[in-house]
Amino acid sequence: MSRTKITVVGAGNVGATTAQRLAERDYADVVLVDIVEGLPQGKALDLNQSGPVVGYEPTVVGTNGYEETAGSSICIITSGRARTPGMSRDDLLRTNQAIVADVTRNLVAQSPDTILMVVTNPLDAMCQVAAAESGFPRERVFGMAGVLDTARFRTFLAWELGVSVRDVTGFVLGGHGDQMVPVASYTNVAGVPVADLIPAARLQEIVRRTRDGGAEVVKLLKSGSAYYAPSASICEMVDSIVHDQKRVLPCAALLSGEYGLDGLFMGVPCRLGAAGLEEVIQIDLSDNERAELERSAAAVRELIAVMGL
Ligand code: NAI
Ligand code: 2OP
Repeated sequence: MSRTKITVVGAGNVGATTAQRLAERDYADVVLVDIVEGLPQGKALDLNQSGPVVGYEPTVVGTNGYEETAGSSICIITSGRARTPGMSRDDLLRTNQAIVADVTRNLVAQSPDTILMVVTNPLDAMCQVAAAESGFPRERVFGMAGVLDTARFRTFLAWELGVSVRDVTGFVLGGHGDQMVPVASYTNVAGVPVADLIPAARLQEIVRRTRDGGAEVVKLLKSGSAYYAPSASICEMVDSIVHDQKRVLPCAALLSGEYGLDGLFMGVPCRLGAAGLEEVIQIDLSDNERAELERSAAAVRELIAVMGL
């Protein structure tokens, strides 16, 4: 029986760190693709040579082409330009639209049954591009952002309360942009709602910091954007698919009427398993949260209109 194969396109910060985390999980071979000659090959060689020390078996293949990706169970698209200080996610729209469309065509030609996980920004719009190019059902094309945004929310809440991040659960929904919706009503510490633990004004500050979470890292790094938490978030989703864990995680999913939205990708709670995105889970939102989700959807719709999709 051959090993599971996972392709990561883009051997930059997010792609290479994802390849490393996946190799260390020891459950799949990894193919790393980039347009820069030598970059994916060099990183793959380096990752293979970590195997004897860290103790993993998988083969990491670096390539500038797509033949090696044939038969991948999951393809993760991180190729594109990253944000730089002062640049909004939306500025990246047109450049990354062309990149994601081309990459999707190449991946699907080699792996028609694959699951596509989009990471490139602006995330929700790039999911739309991958869906349009692949023609895949929503079970097999979705995006990563909500796990990352929620991880940021959980981290800030845990710091505020002096508790373990493991005991803070919650959801950040909506688009992966300034209009994302941290849902305080579903966020709790070991079952206790955060609204009972943190005064409303302070909670709003934490919500604001979560919304600005990506920009805060960009500002500190000065060049490039976050990749440790993003790659960890990607791998949590991949784990759920590979091991059929049925985790309920916020994913950018194509909505067809859920939450009163239709025909666009938005971050919502989903069940992830062997078949990919197996179910969009509907939760009750307050009127305010629903209005925020609608505002976030309007921002995503604007991008879709600009792309002509
Ligand atoms: P990076 O600049 O380090 O890496 C991007 C890589 O893509 C580069 O190595 C580049 O050569 C490659 N690339 C460009 N065009 C390509 C093509 N046509 N085919 C194959 N490879 C190509 O950027 P980083 O930090 O890895 O971020 C990647 C993307 O992920 C960015 O769009 C970033 O904004 C996004 N991102 C999204 C997150 C999310 O939550 N959805 C979180 C973090 C980053
Ligand atoms: C982030 O939120 C850049 O979208 C990326 O860190």
